Amino acid sequence: MARNTLTVTDNRTGKQYEFPITDGTIKAVDLRQIKVSEEDFGLMTYDPAFMNTASCRSAITFIDGDKGILRYRGYPIEQLAEKSNYLEVAYLLIYGELPNKKQFEDWVAGITHHTMLHENMKKLMDGFHYDAHPMGMLAATLGALSTFYTDARNVHDPESRRQQILRLIAKVPTIAAFAYRHSVGRPYIYPDNSLGYAGNFMSMLWKMVEVRYEANPTLVRALDVLFILHADHEQNCSTNAMRSITSSDADPYSSAAGAAAALWGPLHGGANEAVLRMLAEIGHKDRVPAFIKEVKEGHGKLMGFGHRVYKNYDPRARTIKKLADEVFAVTGRNPKLDIALELERIALQDEYFVKRKLYPNVDFYSGLIYQAMGFPVEMFPVLFCIPRMSGWLAQWNEQTEDKETKIARPRQIYTGAVERPFVEMSARR
Ligand code: ACO
Repeated sequence: MARNTLTVTDNRTGKQYEFPITDGTIKAVDLRQIKVSEEDFGLMTYDPAFMNTASCRSAITFIDGDKGILRYRGYPIEQLAEKSNYLEVAYLLIYGELPNKKQFEDWVAGITHHTMLHENMKKLMDGFHYDAHPMGMLAATLGALSTFYTDARNVHDPESRRQQILRLIAKVPTIAAFAYRHSVGRPYIYPDNSLGYAGNFMSMLWKMVEVRYEANPTLVRALDVLFILHADHEQNCSTNAMRSITSSDADPYSSAAGAAAALWGPLHGGANEAVLRMLAEIGHKDRVPAFIKEVKEGHGKLMGFGHRVYKNYDPRARTIKKLADEVFAVTGRNPKLDIALELERIALQDEYFVKRKLYPNVDFYSGLIYQAMGFPVEMFPVLFCIPRMSGWLAQWNEQTEDKETKIARPRQIYTGAVERPFVEMSARR
């Protein structure tokens, strides 16, 4: 019977090594036994961008990229999007099980209790330039929270962690809304704790002089579903940033600021913003074939297409496409939808995209919905960051409790100069 091991022959020395295989992986440090001499450091793996390296064990999110499967704690994303709500999903991600009625009520009450910001945070946000990008304001303000909650440094105290989790999930929509109000020169609107999570966020964004702002319930539900779809996605770029920063026992506000910065990039959470800019640039569906031709010739990318893990249709994109119809029934159809549909139609039958397994990802249609709901494009990555906070926190909590956690510290292959003597300035060319 085949043993659960890997036998490696080092052709440099003729020596053989046997390594255990656990969960479909070998331990990279085992390879260090492979040496050509006693002084040799030992064999390393070279894996820029972690293309084939598991950096942790995690029980939170499961993805099968070839089959287009996404599950949070075992529950299919489609079922959660249909039957659950964002705060319930956030609880599920963090605690591993769906809450019972009492647990859910306590959880919602705990989060609702923390929606306000310290007045000095408001003053801090006032200091941003009038045209500051809301994502920059959000990332900076998240980091600044660490100076207000110094107890957050007790990362190994589960009660302290619980407190920071409530604070961060509660405050991120308030900061996001303040960033938006700042950018349009409107007074900040304080949270209305009689509203739900998404409804309160919309109130803080759009309330003017009315006593109570109640958004259209279809749009509130649509935003809540979008929050569910964006809540976690295992070891993506920003989550890896969260885990990497946290591995030094940094407080979660500092780590979340770093994760938000990673999320902002156009190859990650900034892609939805880039999609809308791309659709505006294309301008009309008749120009789609010419645009696709340019992409294939290497001039730019088809934003909202392709994924490191999904090599099949992103299941979130499928749910979002359906959601778009419900939103457009309220807001009217986003005229850019025709361009997006034509792009998808042509790309899905074009050999270039088929061969590379490039399908629409979560960002391809989300921006169209956000725009129809009245969000400016600069707010798109912010809308991604709000729900992803629960995923980051779930991963942080899991990592902090994981006995195998160590400070993240990759190796490198040094390609620089060998040792050489210092050259005085007068002797330099
Ligand atoms: N348009 C055109 N060509 C593409 C695209 C695209 N969107 N994405 C990948 N390709 C091509 C690459 O040029 C490469 O071609 P080659 O083999 O001829 O060199 C091939 O497909 C493989 O692509 P990689 O860059 O190796 O794929 P990787 O896994 O590194 O990148 C990524 C994944 C970053 C998402 C990439 O597909 C991309 O840049 N997409 C557009 C940005 C985007 O939508 N990002 C959002 C991702 S979802 C999220 O973060 C929430």
